[in-house]
Amino acid sequence: MWLSRVAARSFSVAAAAMQSARVYVTRKVPPDGLEVLRKSGRVQFELWDTDDPVPRAELLKKVRGVDGLLCVLTEKVDAELLDAAGPGLKVVSTMSVGYDHLSLEELKKRGIRVGYTPDVLTDAVAELTVALLLCTSRRLVEATHEAKTGGWGTWRTLWLCGYELANSTVGILGLGRIGVAIAERLKPFKVKKFIYTDVAPRPELANMINAEYVSMDELAQQSDFLTICCALTPETQGICNKNLFSKMKETSIFINTSRGGVVNQDDLYEALATGQIAGAGLDVTTPEPLPTSHPLFTLKNCVILPHIASASYTTRNAMSVLAANNLLAGLRGEPMEKELKL
Ligand code: DGY
Repeated sequence: MWLSRVAARSFSVAAAAMQSARVYVTRKVPPDGLEVLRKSGRVQFELWDTDDPVPRAELLKKVRGVDGLLCVLTEKVDAELLDAAGPGLKVVSTMSVGYDHLSLEELKKRGIRVGYTPDVLTDAVAELTVALLLCTSRRLVEATHEAKTGGWGTWRTLWLCGYELANSTVGILGLGRIGVAIAERLKPFKVKKFIYTDVAPRPELANMINAEYVSMDELAQQSDFLTICCALTPETQGICNKNLFSKMKETSIFINTSRGGVVNQDDLYEALATGQIAGAGLDVTTPEPLPTSHPLFTLKNCVILPHIASASYTTRNAMSVLAANNLLAGLRGEPMEKELKL
């Protein structure tokens, strides 16, 4: 629904003096963010008011002539969409920390500014990563299934044994804010050592968690728990493959809460099915949703979540507020709170 100009004016006298910008919001946005847009008195927005993605053809129609776009990670913002929007599009604000769904080159070429939502989701993502790691290493899904379905016989000495964090080495592939937050949460579990690799050493972050910079091979060989925290880029596409899994310990646990595209899923399946690694916890897959017929779902040692790392009410609301504020700042020609440098 387009907000009427009269309603918009009632929120702010100052804003009423400015011309309203037209904005398309590609998904039902958590209430706090929507409120920011409404209260700004700065935008007329139309919202795809459901939990399902707007069909592409509809999206291409809806963006025609807009000044701003507030999207989520399922919308591919590429040349086709930008052409459909036309030259008036000034700002794209994504309610996500990841931006692999945005064609940055196209956006840059057209001088379109881009907002995203780092930091506000760090705690939620780190928390979920720890939960997934423990769930996978201590076999919690298998265990609840056994308890519910009659598999729980007498107490057995090695039944449902897993791997513990105490005295372990935790590896982080791609050290950023989220990797640090995960390590901070894992430290009290008596992890012995944190190691990481990235395109270059990141001492300012590594020092916060006393992590040692190692090569990719060393990361694979030494990690008892390997957590994937890197962004999806052409360089990281499929980086977790046969080569990596073949160097990992048979007792190691692989955790991915970044993007499905960094993993070669056929190679991961092979590594899990043949016991090359002990288990995997995935919050992200390719595609999403992962079809229920996918072979990874047949494995007991693979825990799959439906991309929920940032899914707490607090965080999703904060993401929506930040995305809305980024959008408004961009439309006003002001600095955004979190802007991608293109
Ligand atoms: C993001 O923001 O990129 C996450 O994957 C979704 O919360």
